[in-house]
Formats: sequence, structure tokens, C-alpha cells
Amino acid sequence: MKTPPPFFSLLKLATALLLGSLAMHTTDSDDVTFSLRDSLTFHDLLDAGRDFGHRYRLPPAAVFHPKSPSDVAAAVGHIFRMGRRSELTVAARGRGHSLHGQAQAPGGIVIQMGSLKSTLTRVHAGAGKVPYADVAGGELWINLLRETLKHGLAPRSWTDYLHLTVGGTLSNAGVSGQAFRHGPQISNVRQLEVVTGRGELLNCSEKENPDLFHAALGGLGQFGIITRAQIVLEPAPKMVRWIRVLYEDFAAFTEDQEMLISAEKTFDYVEGFVMVNRTGILNNWRSSFYPQDPLRAAQFDYDGKTLFCLEMAKNFNPTAAQLAHQEVEELLSRLRHVRSTVFQTEVTYVEFLDRVHASAEKLRSKGLWEVPHPWLNLFVPASRIVDFAGEVFGKIWDNRTSAVIPDEEIFYLVGFLHSAPPADGGAGNLRRALAQNERILSFCRSAGIKAKQYLPHYTISSEWMTHFGLRWETVVRRKMAYDPMAILAPGQRIFQKGLSLS
Ligand SMILES: Cc1cc2nc3c(=O)[nH]c(=O)nc-3n(C[C@H](O)[C@H](O)[C@H](O)COP(=O)(O)OP(=O)(O)OC[C@H]3O[C@@H](n4cnc5c(N)ncnc54)[C@H](O)[C@@H]3O)c2cc1C
Ligand SMILES: *[C@@H]1O[C@H](CO)[C@@H](O)[C@H](O)[C@H]1NC(C)=O
Ligand SMILES: *[C@@H]1O[C@H](CO)[C@@H](O)[C@H](O)[C@H]1NC(C)=O
Ligand SMILES: *[C@@H]1O[C@H](CO)[C@@H](O)[C@H](O)[C@H]1NC(C)=O
Repeated sequence: MKTPPPFFSLLKLATALLLGSLAMHTTDSDDVTFSLRDSLTFHDLLDAGRDFGHRYRLPPAAVFHPKSPSDVAAAVGHIFRMGRRSELTVAARGRGHSLHGQAQAPGGIVIQMGSLKSTLTRVHAGAGKVPYADVAGGELWINLLRETLKHGLAPRSWTDYLHLTVGGTLSNAGVSGQAFRHGPQISNVRQLEVVTGRGELLNCSEKENPDLFHAALGGLGQFGIITRAQIVLEPAPKMVRWIRVLYEDFAAFTEDQEMLISAEKTFDYVEGFVMVNRTGILNNWRSSFYPQDPLRAAQFDYDGKTLFCLEMAKNFNPTAAQLAHQEVEELLSRLRHVRSTVFQTEVTYVEFLDRVHASAEKLRSKGLWEVPHPWLNLFVPASRIVDFAGEVFGKIWDNRTSAVIPDEEIFYLVGFLHSAPPADGGAGNLRRALAQNERILSFCRSAGIKAKQYLPHYTISSEWMTHFGLRWETVVRRKMAYDPMAILAPGQRIFQKGLSLS
């Protein structure tokens, strides 16, 4: 073991003081005292101060590994009662897949939510009832999937990458190619168990504490720490027909997407992406896709062009394969892609949902995963297509939740998912990508495109006010109700402990 540098010894000392008072506070139960003291660590401060974005690195004073939701409540409640004389803040950390330090608590306490996951996922199903799973907030979606599949069930709405935590994605929205049918993940939650910034452990749902429920969903960790969630399930399909087609014409590409998401009988998953001629068509990092028809892929000459790829999936069970294939063919016949570019494959449901993982592992093995990721994700309104929108999206995005979307019924989530490996071009890659992001944002501003950032990142409060728009008042009211000391998720930089909230 290496000895930590003196800097960390100091932090450790500060935390020992905290620990002493934590222990004092909980003397009414010796068990709790023991488990809290036992649950702080100091050797992993650097890791807890890192995230996927690799741009901010602000270590906490201590890392907390709760054994139960009441441990989380005891720790937050203690810091709450210390009042304004303490500067300690608390960040729940899922897997740290944040991009801008959102799961960091500089000089405070990072709670490793993964420690709670040993609580087994329970699946509730019965005749005539909507099945659901009861899962710890720090559990990974991939583990929830594996568990529910044992019961022939699965969640309905996903993210592209499953090695993210339930509490982490529910604090944002959780969006992938199923969202047009089922809404984002935050629209598929039955109940949450939440620790507020006052240290209260509360259940909430549409019926019980509904304001807290809606606040926590998409709430960027500002109103509570999600310790458990009940996730709505559906019967899991066995197989997936996975298809990609290419477009040169952007208008045809978007019109086809909008046709597909509004059609009655349609795919189960629809996503589009832009293929910049750089890494090659079938080599996209986001998925390992092995088309059955590599010949045609090779023949298609895409030299120098920007292409648009529409990705679709149809779920099916082998017993009804014929029917599913007919439906796919019928849908494909209505698309206006470049004719020679239909790439198809069949995989199991897990292989499809976990498609990004293999690519992530490949990048990791090449040292290309742990690099800066200057990502920009925008919700962009689709102004000319409001006519048929009400039916599709109107009911899906519940505007009582904290997630912010454009004031339009249909919108695109556009992700600019850059990697900036320092190896080729040094810091230049990162600078270029950041400058490009800034150009995109300033174009939206000057063209009057009312885009909203997803996984938002701002550093000054006036930008947060603009982001939330009419909802800002609600955000402030909820913050005063559930986290009046501004203890929670300081890395989002919306509120600052010690400053007045409004
Ligand atoms: C490779 C990759 C692919 C991705 N793909 C998608 C995608 O397809 N769709 C999509 O919607 N998003 C996607 N994301 C973004 C992802 O949703 C966010 O990174 C999110 O932060 C989840 O990551 P995490 O679980 O590690 O949470 P963290 O980054 O650890 O935390 C995120 C925020 O939530 C807070 N938080 C964490 N856990 C809890 C909890 N239990 N209760 C309350 N607050 C909590 C943290 O304090 C922090 O503010 C992707 C990210 C990566 C890196
Ligand atoms: C929340 O509800 C679940 C059952 O749905 C129960 O097991 C749990 O104890 C409740 N938690 C609180 C804090 O009331
Ligand atoms: C585009 O792709 C072709 C074929 O792979 C390649 O020869 C060419 O260099 C690429 N152009 C750019 C700008 O990357
Ligand atoms: C939410 O949507 C409803 C119905 O569409 C609307 O009446 C209400 O004003 C909206 N609320 C907010 C805060 O946008």
C-alpha cells in the first residue's frame, strides 16, 4: 500500500471529526454507530473524484459505503443537522458515468450507491397485475435485466448502455430508441424510496408524496437520493431483428423517423445517427453490429459523404418469427434510404440491449475509454411536425417530473459523443470538440432554436434559470422543501451550500 500524500491526511482528519460527531449523533443505536463508522473509506478518494467525462477531478473528504437506506438517511440527516456552520455536501455516485463532475462532492462525502445493491432485486408479478421489479438505486440496469429475465420479464425503456445505475439514469431521464413508445425510463417507475436532504427516508409514488416523486424523477439528484425504485416490467421477447439503413438525404432520414414513431404497427426501437466518414460505417463505437450482408456494405461507396444511419429493431419470439419478418419487410418497404444499404442481423434480446458493452470493452482494452469525453446532448424540437405529435409524445413525457424538454410535442435527442484521446493531437482534440460544442449551442441561440441540454451542464445560475425556464420557480420551491441546506449533488452546480436558494 502506498501512503497517501499529506493533502489527504488533512482531509482525513477533517473527516475524523465528522465521524466523531456522526458517532455521537447515533448513540441511541450502537449498530448504526458501528455501521456508519465502518462504512467510511479514504483510500478511494481519487476514484470517487473521477468520472467518464475525465474533465473534472475533485476528490471528496471521504467515501461512504452504506449498507442500507437508513445508513444513507443517518449520514445525510446528520449533515443536515450540522446546519450552515458545516460546508459538507453529499453526492450519490452511481458508476460515475457523468461528464462534468455531477457525481462529485468536492471536500464532502461521496456515497457509493453500489454498496446498496446486495439487496436482491425482487420481481412482483401476478395475474391481472402490471409486473414490476423492486431494485436498489445503485444497481446496474444490466443486472436488473438478468434478474428479471429469470421470470421471463424485462423493463420496457432503456438507455443505449446498460452499465449505468438505476438511480443515476432516473435522476436524468433515461433515453434510448424505445422512448417513443414507452417514454423515457422516468415514465416507467411505480414507486421510489428516497432520502431527502433533510435525512428523511420516504416512499413516494403517484399517490404517496407525489410532489417528491416527480421532483426526484429527472431531478439531477437535487431533491433526494434514490435508494430503491420499482420499475415497470413487460414480458421479455427472446429475439431481436436488428436493422440499419443509410441515407444521404437528411430530410428523408428525419421524415422516415417521424413516420416510424407515429405509425401504429412499427418497430420496438428507432434511433438515428450521423456517420461521419472517419471511423467507417460498421465500426461505430456505440455497437458491435455484424450485418449478414457485408458484401453490399463493402460495395457501397461512401467516400467523403456524411451519411445518416437509421437503426431499428423488432422484437419477436421464435414461434412468431414469420409474422415479425413480414411486418419488418412491410415497414422497410416504406422507407426512402439508399436502396443498396440494408444491413440486418438477428440477436438475442440481451445481446441487443447490451450492444454497447462489447465496444466499450474493446475501447477499454486499447486505452481509449478512459479519455476525456466532451459530449453534448441536446433535445431539439421538430417544429414542422407538431400535427401528429400530440398522440405520440404528449402523454409520454410527464411535465410534472423535473426533466426539462422543449415546449414542443416531438423533439429529437441529438448526441455529439466525442472522445478526445490525448494520444493523437494532444489537448487539441479536446479543444476542438469543445469549440464545436460551443458553436452548436451558439448557432441554436442565434437561430432561435429552443434546444434543451440533456445531461445539462452550466456553471452559472442565470444559465440554469434559462434552462429550467418556467419551471425554475418549481425547482426552487422543491429545493427549499426537500434540500433546504443544498447538501445534495453539489457537482451539478445549480445551488451552492451556504448561499440563499432564491
Ligand atoms: C457510455 C455511456 C452511454 C450512455 N448512454 C445513455 C443513453 O443511451 N441514454 C441516457 O439517457 N443516458 C446515457 N448516458 C448518460 C447516463 O444516463 C448518465 O451518465 C447518468 O449520469 C448515469 O450514470 P451513473 O449511473 O454512473 O450516475 P452518476 O454519474 O454516478 O450520477 C449522475 C448524477 O445523479 C446523481 N445520482 C447518482 N445516483 C443517484 C441516486 N441513487 N439518487 C439520486 N441521485 C443520484 C449523482 O449525484 C449525479 O448528480 C450514457 C453515459 C455513458 C457514459
Ligand atoms: C417503502 O415501501 C416498501 C414496500 O413497497 C416497504 O418495504 C418499505 O419499508 C417502505 N419504506 C419506507 C421508508 O416507508
Ligand atoms: C473517407 O473514407 C474513405 C474510404 O474509407 C477514405 O479513403 C477517406 O480518406 C475518408 N475521408 C476522410 C475525410 O476521412
Ligand atoms: C403540463 O402539461 C399540461 C397539459 O398538457 C398543461 O396544462 C400544463 O400547463 C403543463 N405544465 C407545465 C408546468 O408546463
